[in-house]
Amino acid sequence: MKMLSLKKTMLLSLLAMPLMVAATEIDSPSGNIKVKFYVDQKGRPTYEMTYKDKPVVLPSHLGLELARDKHASRGMNEHDLMDGFKLMKEVTVTRDETWKPVWGETATIRNHYVEYVAVLQQQWLEPRVTAREGERGMIEEQHHRTINICFRVYDDGIGFRYIFPQQEDLNYFLIEEERSEFAMAGDHTAWWLPGDYDTQEQETQQTRLSEIRGRMQEAVNWGNSSVAVFSPTGVQTSLQMKSQDGLYINIHEAACTDYATMHLELVDAETKALTTQLGGGSNAYTPNPKPSRFPLPKPFTFVSHLTPDATGLKGAMQTPCETPWRTVMVSDDARDMLSSNLILNLNEPCALDDVSWIHPTKYCGVWWEMIVGKSNWHYTDDYPSIKLDKIDWAKVKPHGRHAANNEKVMRYIDFAAKNGLDEVLVEGWNVGWEDWANMWKRDVFDFQTAYPDFDIEKLNAYAHSKGVKLLMHHETSSSTQNYERHMEKAFQLMNKYGYDAVKTGYVGDIIPRGDHHYSQSMNNHYLYVVKEAAKHHIMVNAHEATRPTGLCRTWPNLVGNESARGTEYEAFGGSRPDHTCILPFTRLQGGPMDYTPGIFVTRLSEWSQNTSWARITIAGSLALYLTMYSPLQMAADLPEHYEKFDDAFQFIRDVACDWDESIYLEAEPADYITVARKAKGTPNWFIGGKCDENGHEAVVKLDFLDPGCKYQCTIYADAKDAHYETNPQAYVITKKVVKAGQTLKIKEAPGGGFAASLFPIAK
Ligand code: NOJ
Ligand code: CA
Repeated sequence: MKMLSLKKTMLLSLLAMPLMVAATEIDSPSGNIKVKFYVDQKGRPTYEMTYKDKPVVLPSHLGLELARDKHASRGMNEHDLMDGFKLMKEVTVTRDETWKPVWGETATIRNHYVEYVAVLQQQWLEPRVTAREGERGMIEEQHHRTINICFRVYDDGIGFRYIFPQQEDLNYFLIEEERSEFAMAGDHTAWWLPGDYDTQEQETQQTRLSEIRGRMQEAVNWGNSSVAVFSPTGVQTSLQMKSQDGLYINIHEAACTDYATMHLELVDAETKALTTQLGGGSNAYTPNPKPSRFPLPKPFTFVSHLTPDATGLKGAMQTPCETPWRTVMVSDDARDMLSSNLILNLNEPCALDDVSWIHPTKYCGVWWEMIVGKSNWHYTDDYPSIKLDKIDWAKVKPHGRHAANNEKVMRYIDFAAKNGLDEVLVEGWNVGWEDWANMWKRDVFDFQTAYPDFDIEKLNAYAHSKGVKLLMHHETSSSTQNYERHMEKAFQLMNKYGYDAVKTGYVGDIIPRGDHHYSQSMNNHYLYVVKEAAKHHIMVNAHEATRPTGLCRTWPNLVGNESARGTEYEAFGGSRPDHTCILPFTRLQGGPMDYTPGIFVTRLSEWSQNTSWARITIAGSLALYLTMYSPLQMAADLPEHYEKFDDAFQFIRDVACDWDESIYLEAEPADYITVARKAKGTPNWFIGGKCDENGHEAVVKLDFLDPGCKYQCTIYADAKDAHYETNPQAYVITKKVVKAGQTLKIKEAPGGGFAASLFPIAK
């Protein structure tokens, strides 16, 4: 650790009577990124940020507005943490360390940054009624309070967080709103999702900042099972932007624990006040919080907007505590957005001593045919409603379309065993699916009782005899208390039968009513599940949970999340071809996504009543195993579809999902991504390229290969006439011997891509 001397610069105030304010400059290790921090004339903490001398964040205020509480005693404090601060002390240190993720895109990760902590103090007088003898009336009481703001300045971005030490005047507090500002330097192009307290399952919008308001209404996915939009200019993080002068800027957060998920509200030319009420949606219970009493920042400024709890408040805090990190990544090269480890680096090291039970997993599942509507999760149509303890399932009449039956599951186990897939997900195995969603029903599932045609003991034994595991499914239907009540027994059941991974789900509005998917209490719930699962050596893949913020570094049994629009939407109307060229820039910043790729029969009407279709070619589907990094990868289509295209399926058999090295070769948000990855513990390389609706020619310089080796290279490319709409199944497989220094030029069709495997040839 090295103590640095602080550089002070003088900033000229814009007030009528100029005042000089001392700013501290913090430079990243290479000096590319510079942050200036100061306390302005009103005592408001303020920062700004540049990259290679170009502005990234213009002067922006930091602070939190606090709420009054009827139990305002014992240090419960509603005096805002916004202004009146004095800078008391500054500490700067440099750290440079390297750590090894349990699984990941690279075998090691360098964590190199300059940390700056500003110690800030507020003092104020507060009237208090006194009842002491001889003192009746009002007295003015002196209060003072210290908070720290900590910056970590990297070469690829910054993180900052608020730290609240324990003290008499700051013991408990309620957050009305966090007001962290991010003032953008221009009308950037942004890839954004509407700010929503409950869902991220929307198509990304690409507009200028000034166009967000005009696009908002059509951007909302009103059909989702839980929707709560809050502002005509509210957007989610991770938010990817590109400035007119070629800077890629990304705002997100890291290490969100015991705190609400952050959204961003854009102040534009029409903004009169920051949002105080919910805009609409199915989950519109939240009462209106009070408007801010602080002046509106300038247009093109994003202001943090936390997800409220059922009462409308944003957080209940007990010191000592801190907020998550707020992150701003920046580069003039889009590839750096994808290779950055800023979010992981800002998280705490692994909390588990033994990680030997955590493993990368390729899986298939009894899933897609239900999503498409060909078969069902539920077992019977004979009951108007289900009370779990009132039904003798052995006597129930089945409707005959229940997918999770012994015969089908065994067929999937055979398929997995034959093709080297590790696990088989089975959804709809447990009773309660008859009236599971949107009924405000608390006791939806018990996570333990199987339907009569699913023999849990026999099927697990059969799977294990073939070297395969079953992957558990716990759809909570967002009834979180119900899940927490049953979880221990449910995990014990998993241990008993040898399951080591669970896919959880949070469909519908949260029960208890009024809470939101991304609130502080729900974020605590998701982490509680991950921690309890770890005690049982269970890996977790949570769907509809809050968007990840890198917590998988600390809890590597959190192997996946959905938290965005996944492949299921190909059966609900489809997603745009550029969708998967955006997600790595946005959703994937915080952690891997269980995107469930691998659809080969893209016209669902070929085998079901569903008229929806996937806007991708087969070669494009293969590319996703590389461009959408995840240690958990599904082969989502039906075994019979893969059997039809067995030569293309060979790539899914071969591809790894854990890596020693990853090199992003080409990237532009919403256009194309090309990446080469070296499989963990092997000399094998895999390369994937995915493009949007316009097609792309990937130029791959093989200068990363071992120069002492020749490689057998198999390329799975779109055929000349392939097209995501008219000819998605046209692919060409080419085999050739390649070596370091050569260049491959590979054409990707509209909505297509390519995948390649490179195995060294024995000398
Ligand atoms: C939504 C999940 O994303 C999907 O994968 C799952 O099949 C359904 N919920 C049912 O749990
Ligand atoms: Ca979902």
